[in-house]
Amino acid sequence: MKVPLSSPDITSKEIEAVTAVLETRHLALGPKMVEFEEKMAALAGRNFGIAVNSGTSGLHLLVRALGIGPGDEVITTSFSFVASANCALFEGARPVFVDIDPQTLNLDPSLIGAAITPRTKAILPIHAFGQPAAMGPILAIAQKHGFKVIEDACEAIGARYRGRPAGSFGDGSVFAFYPNKQITTGEGGVILTDEKEIATLCRSMRNQGRGEGGGWLDHVRLGYNYRLDELSCALGLAQLERLPEILARRAAVAEEYNRRLATLPGVTIPSISAEVEMSWFVYVIRLDEQIDRDRVLELMGARGVQCRPYFNPIHLQGYYRREFGFKEGDLPITERVGRSVLALPFFTRLQGEQIAYVVESLKEAIAAA
Ligand SMILES: Cc1ncc(COP(=O)(O)O)c(C=O)c1O
Repeated sequence: MKVPLSSPDITSKEIEAVTAVLETRHLALGPKMVEFEEKMAALAGRNFGIAVNSGTSGLHLLVRALGIGPGDEVITTSFSFVASANCALFEGARPVFVDIDPQTLNLDPSLIGAAITPRTKAILPIHAFGQPAAMGPILAIAQKHGFKVIEDACEAIGARYRGRPAGSFGDGSVFAFYPNKQITTGEGGVILTDEKEIATLCRSMRNQGRGEGGGWLDHVRLGYNYRLDELSCALGLAQLERLPEILARRAAVAEEYNRRLATLPGVTIPSISAEVEMSWFVYVIRLDEQIDRDRVLELMGARGVQCRPYFNPIHLQGYYRREFGFKEGDLPITERVGRSVLALPFFTRLQGEQIAYVVESLKEAIAAA
């Protein structure tokens, strides 16, 4: 049996929706984008949505729109995908990493205070694996010091924190739609905000800096081509309609893994805070320190089960080590977690027999490693 790490859940509805756009010949900057933006904003109770061609583009535009630039510092977590720190670097700002809560694996708000300097401009929490970060304390610190908050909700569409939707926090937030995400647009992302000025800036910058109401060749500020096409938006709309069903199925898959793995020696299953409703993005277990995680990965691969060491901390990536001198020991909890994590195959239509095969393979791999 071969079990992939992830697989998008595409039905005939999605195929019909994309084909229908092709029939119209209106392939960019059209009605599907507007509808997608409105529905995404509504999902998180936000005033504005701005569709972009990736989560990374969305984070970059928010950094620019919030005026974060050279010399500024952004407090964030290293236990994330590299884009959530790179977006500060794009603008000459510095990510300042604080360690994580060993249970939720999210940025630990109690460590933010010690990381604040006169250069601190913003906090950028991420919702690791679909579990919202502790937004209450994070927003309180930001408010006290006048920091901006960029909510990286790329992994958490449909999740909730203290009853409030992921994507509804901070000055701006971003969802992402790469094919491994809960719902996909192929490539894609969306920026959400309540502030008109941020929305206007992001809309302009994603479209080559064109002005509001200006002509096609009227560029009033520096911009990019970060647009999301109509085919992608139509795909996203069809997926969004199925979001409740998709999230429920993913929760059932996670539940089945939990049930089968809860008593397996050497394995720790995901720990979910009582303050959140999860939107399951990936299913990540932790292996006890005496188990050779990389050998387990290898053995799983040999059995056709695709796993990944997810996340590999950002500060230990080659570029960050070379450029900023980060090293082992800088973030002890992040590093300990980073060495122990293993993402198992996880997607909406993962079948019971596949789960059983993954778990059986894991038992054997652990015994052999
Ligand atoms: C936490 C986080 N931030 C940012 C991104 C970037 O999204 P994208 O791959 O769409 O650029 C991702 C997704 O891969 C992510 O998981």
